[in-house]
Amino acid sequence: MRKIVISTGGGDAPGLNAVIFSVVNSAAKRGWEVYGSRSGYKGLLDLDELVRLTPKDVEGVTPIGGTILGSTNKGDPFGMPVENLAGEIQMVDVSDRIIKNFKRMNFYCHIAVGGDGSLEIAHRFAQKGMPVIGVPKTIDNDLEATDRTFGFDTAVATATEALDKLHSTAKSHDRVMVVEVMGRDSGWIALYSGIAGGADAILIPEIPFCIDSVCEKIADNDLHDKNYSIVVVAEGAKAEDGEVICRGHGELGRSEVVLGGIGEWVANEIRERLGKDTRSLVLGHLQRGGSPTTFDRLLAIRFGAAAIRMAEAGTFDHMVAWTPPDMSAVPLVDAIRSRKKVDLASDKVATARDIGICLGDDK
Ligand code: F6P
Repeated sequence: MRKIVISTGGGDAPGLNAVIFSVVNSAAKRGWEVYGSRSGYKGLLDLDELVRLTPKDVEGVTPIGGTILGSTNKGDPFGMPVENLAGEIQMVDVSDRIIKNFKRMNFYCHIAVGGDGSLEIAHRFAQKGMPVIGVPKTIDNDLEATDRTFGFDTAVATATEALDKLHSTAKSHDRVMVVEVMGRDSGWIALYSGIAGGADAILIPEIPFCIDSVCEKIADNDLHDKNYSIVVVAEGAKAEDGEVICRGHGELGRSEVVLGGIGEWVANEIRERLGKDTRSLVLGHLQRGGSPTTFDRLLAIRFGAAAIRMAEAGTFDHMVAWTPPDMSAVPLVDAIRSRKKVDLASDKVATARDIGICLGDDK
């Protein structure tokens, strides 16, 4: 009988519970026991935060958004903010304590479900001797080694639905609606939802944009009796001569900056230059919420089952990846090397241009 532990780290994404469901059931099929670590590594740091997961415990969780285990993006065990006796916050490396607890619980392996940050931590643990298998999660779809991450399809569906709804207001009021979507430094959510949701302009981090091109497109719409426009802006997009706009820097225990604000900037520029009634909105965490789409559920369930097959084969320090049509195992070190960007030579970009969408450049 083997005992395994599963954790979910970083921002939540629809499909996390489907992975947990699949891991628990695939393990039970083999007579293995599964434990869940609450809030990322908390359960491995404090064993009271470990929870035994049986098939009964995960019955019916597949369609539920979020994660039944909880998550955090401030829980890096190699630099965790801890309050000392004087009430000051210090960054402490608690990784040895985690390894000790892992051994004490006699765990066979750890399934770490997460995005780039969590998988990087997982790899560091693998280097310290913990048998780890990664499962790729992020709505941003920015992990290079896998064709898709779960959560992305649901986020795109949510953003597309929002764009559909915004059309009626934009059209009724002859307005420009600027919608900021998530995605960090990759434009996947913006590009997919923008094409599917009938955007007139899509601004992605991969193409630094010229605001004049966007305004030309809007003015051209007006000339052709389309007195409203929809502009989708990825949170990591930036003007040719500008910077990425952030809402916050250096949150304690978090290495990444918090992006946000470019949508409003674009809306202000359009209003000033064209004098058009312009509104901006940030879709924000709506994109991370709700029930996973069928595609995401299936992908998440397949990831979970494949992770257990990898555990059975002893394929550690690897991440399960979807390399259509099959699942494969990719070394974690390769999986975290770089972020996956929108390929500007892809048919999706060509499609956007062909149907007249402005991508912020002069093509
Ligand atoms: O990585 C997922 C993601 O939703 C990004 O798209 C976004 O920039 C970030 O997380 C937001 O993080 P938080 O939930 O901490 O605001």
